Amino acid sequence: MQTNSPQTHSADSSARSDVLKDNQFRVDAVHPGSALLVGDTAVFALAGHFCATQAKCSHKQGPLNEGKLDGSTVTCPWHGSQFNVCTGTVLQGPAVDPLKTYRVTVDGEMGCVEPA
Ligand code: FES
Repeated sequence: MQTNSPQTHSADSSARSDVLKDNQFRVDAVHPGSALLVGDTAVFALAGHFCATQAKCSHKQGPLNEGKLDGSTVTCPWHGSQFNVCTGTVLQGPAVDPLKTYRVTVDGEMGCVEPA
């Protein structure tokens, strides 16, 4: 007697290698000129490489991953502060404090955000 019921896999399996950690992302999930929220960081895809900063603006915590990226400059969607996403430098206020930056490493299809 055959059954067509699918094999069930344990959802509790500890072998979940396909699950991303908080600081990991799939490289193809970030298109050039855009950003992705990865944990508490915003990963920005520039021409040929990635830069990452804290995800929240240093002014009033605006979501920088939703900001407009122009080259290496992101504009906060809330009040228009601009930052260099590779150095964290403030290019235009009202923000005063620079952003914390992170190192991004890429291994094949996977990217990883690490403390700078
Ligand atoms: S929260 Fe980003 S400029 Fe105000």
